[in-house]
Amino acid sequence: MTQSGKSFPPAASDRKDAHLDLAVGQVAQSDQDAGFDRIRLDHCALPECDLASIDISTNFLGRRVLAPLFIGSMTGGTARADTINSVLAEVAEACGVGLGVGSQRASIERAQSQRDLRDRAPSVPLIGNLGGVQLAAAAGLDMARRAVDDLRADAIFIHLNPLQEAVQPEGETDWRGVLGAIEAACSTLPCPVIVKEVGAGISANVARRLFDVGVYGIDIAGLGGTNWTRIEAARCEDAGRFDPFLDWGISTVDAIRAVREALPEGMLIASGGIRHGLDAAKALWLGASQVSMAGPVLKTVVGADFEVEAAIEAINRYKQQIRLTLFLTGAPNLASFASVPGTIDH
Ligand code: FNR
Repeated sequence: MTQSGKSFPPAASDRKDAHLDLAVGQVAQSDQDAGFDRIRLDHCALPECDLASIDISTNFLGRRVLAPLFIGSMTGGTARADTINSVLAEVAEACGVGLGVGSQRASIERAQSQRDLRDRAPSVPLIGNLGGVQLAAAAGLDMARRAVDDLRADAIFIHLNPLQEAVQPEGETDWRGVLGAIEAACSTLPCPVIVKEVGAGISANVARRLFDVGVYGIDIAGLGGTNWTRIEAARCEDAGRFDPFLDWGISTVDAIRAVREALPEGMLIASGGIRHGLDAAKALWLGASQVSMAGPVLKTVVGADFEVEAAIEAINRYKQQIRLTLFLTGAPNLASFASVPGTIDH
């Protein structure tokens, strides 16, 4: 027990609720930005297309989605987290976009099913989630299989978060065997395996190693948005020792560019600090095939007292902003948008 009387390490459910509280506050925001303001897409004064008929629907994990944008992995496993996931599932279905759930470890360990999420979001991509260190632990592969089965998931995210774990008081810092466990997951799970970071980015070198063992895609989840180092440091008694690392990582824009240049064909998702549809469009222009947003959607849901309408409105606004970006660059569709002119400041 600590002096405050709380048990240490805290139970996973206490930690998850503390994360939710901190994630919607100012402490969660990186000081370093994601880099989207360095990109300027050339304005086209003669678009020769009809804004109203610009279609950004696409295929993602074998399902049709109304935009290349989905709700990023966040939560699950506590009463509050499950309420948020139920709201997010309804929002995803109403907006015709995918949804990633947060780590399923806690719910699986406590034999709590999240099956109802698929009932709430029957037509959109639903993506499970487990940590890389949990996958590498004894029975990790079995846990991943149960995570996919429970959710009737279209894919599973394996998250890599060595920085977060190192700062977390109760974090896992033995990362041996994670790549091998990912390789085993790719060859045995009944769905695609996508590997993501949680806000510190994936380098081109790591991306190559992941594709070499058979991952279906990666989500670079770069620096510039929700910052887990800051969130975990806020929970530490001796937080000062992590000060030099608070903005450690690869910015989202740098990570997308580096991975795209090294691996032009790999399936790439961009996330981390995407604030609106214009940022999302810029990430697509850089070569991502999907974009995800986590913190901004959570803030909308919490700020609206868990009413679905506010988040539906926000996501529809982001979709409209992506469409407007295509229009203003003279691109009638996503395929032609990839080659519109623009500049990146260094
Ligand atoms: C997350 N994120 C996350 N990622 C993951 O793979 N598993 C998880 O359990 C969680 N949990 C989680 C909780 C909360 C409250 C937030 C806000 C985020 C990380 C998330 O998926 C994403 O990679 C980062 O948050 C960066 O994106 P944003 O928030 O800047 O859009």
